Amino acid sequence: MPKLHVKSYGCQMNVYDSNRMTDLLTRDAAYVETGDPGDADLIILNTCHIREKAAEKIYSELGRIRGLKRDAERAGRRLVVAVAGCVAQAEGEEIIRRAPLVDIVVGPQNYHRLPALLDEAARGAKVVDTEFPLEDKFDHLAPPDAAAIQARGVAAFVTVQEGCDKFCTFCVVPYTRGAEVSRPVVAILAEVEHLASAGVREITLIGQNVNAYHGETTNGGQATLGQLLRRLAEVPGVMRLRYTTSHPRDVDQDLVAAHRDLAVLMPQLHLPVQSGSDRVLAAMNRRHTRSEYLETIARLRAARPDIAFTSDFIVGFPGETEEDFCETLRLVDEVGYADAFSFKYSPRPGTPAADRGDQVAEQVKSDRLARLQACIDRHQRDFNRSCIGRELDVLLEKPGRISGQLVGRSPYLQAVHVMAPTSLIGQIATVRITGAGSNSLSGALHASPKVPEQALAGAGD
Ligand code: 5AD
Ligand code: SF4
Repeated sequence: MPKLHVKSYGCQMNVYDSNRMTDLLTRDAAYVETGDPGDADLIILNTCHIREKAAEKIYSELGRIRGLKRDAERAGRRLVVAVAGCVAQAEGEEIIRRAPLVDIVVGPQNYHRLPALLDEAARGAKVVDTEFPLEDKFDHLAPPDAAAIQARGVAAFVTVQEGCDKFCTFCVVPYTRGAEVSRPVVAILAEVEHLASAGVREITLIGQNVNAYHGETTNGGQATLGQLLRRLAEVPGVMRLRYTTSHPRDVDQDLVAAHRDLAVLMPQLHLPVQSGSDRVLAAMNRRHTRSEYLETIARLRAARPDIAFTSDFIVGFPGETEEDFCETLRLVDEVGYADAFSFKYSPRPGTPAADRGDQVAEQVKSDRLARLQACIDRHQRDFNRSCIGRELDVLLEKPGRISGQLVGRSPYLQAVHVMAPTSLIGQIATVRITGAGSNSLSGALHASPKVPEQALAGAGD
């Protein structure tokens, strides 16, 4: 049986898509998965285009695969190489020109057509499929049959929307992932019910702009993300819900109310702000001010007092001054994030900010990034230390590095290490936190685990 190796780069959407491609191709035993690319008959690189470094990584990986393809040929085997994801969408046939070993280039909207593309490649053709399919706009988001989805572990992602209409001036996503589309509620519900019955306990709803969700309901209406979360909270076996990534402009009253009312909705929210300066926010086309962002944070805290915030930041956006950057540092201090990702601005071809004449010098970007990361680390350490002595509910996910140890997640998404038997994997245990590092917590089992239940109403776990 031919062997398939999928390597995923970038965001959680790519992890989800890689799993769906694997599900599709291993169905009816067409392929079996292998962890070893040297052993594979088909290698799929599921790529990321968000920053320049992410795209360059793909070409170095293709350089390594060239050797594997030669070895396979010498052994009388054919190795088919496919490039999927956002680099595929953005660069199309340019990839085959630059790396002629590539057989298939397939964009994120076309994965459901992979079996047909593989047939063409088997006949020796070079195939590029990066069309945005309009007529079957949901087909690429997930297989129509929820039962075809394999559960992998006790926490799973579920795509609920894809694409973005926001057009932040630094970002390639609206070009690579296309216009915003939401999956109908019934399709999401079927997938979540299937995963829960297969033992999944935590579901993270994902989308590039997840809180712009506006999926069809069975009565012809539309559901907001808040309404969708309320419906999913009732699914037996689902003990935790999360969603990512959100845009501050799209936090509506339904979503705030969901945080107030649903105990299964975890008190942690990734709410990227990118910059603390109104001037930079306007130039980024973020469509909100610093004070509007802070008001949104305040509304969420009023609804769920223990909610922890995480964010993304870009330093060195064109025209960013030292004063603008200091506004970002002040915002980090004001919000007190539990964690955050920060990046140097990377000009992406085709986006408006890439053409600006006032690009910031590399050295200045590096200096600001180091200062911002030190500030974020300080808040992360403070937040982690504030958990010492508390009892936290931890969903135990998998064995840790030390024998006898399990790793799980706190409600705030911190990794927690605890000595516990493997029989507790998939359960939520109360853990007394005794230690805090910069990236994780450790603790001791405190009470017997909770059995799956539908936890509704009442904040506080
Ligand atoms: N340069 C640097 N960072 C970027 N991001 C998106 N586009 C760029 C870019 N051109 C960051 C943003 C976004 C995260 C996923 O990646 O912070 O929220
Ligand atoms: Fe990109 Fe997010 Fe802005 Fe959409 S909202 S354009 S995905 S940064």
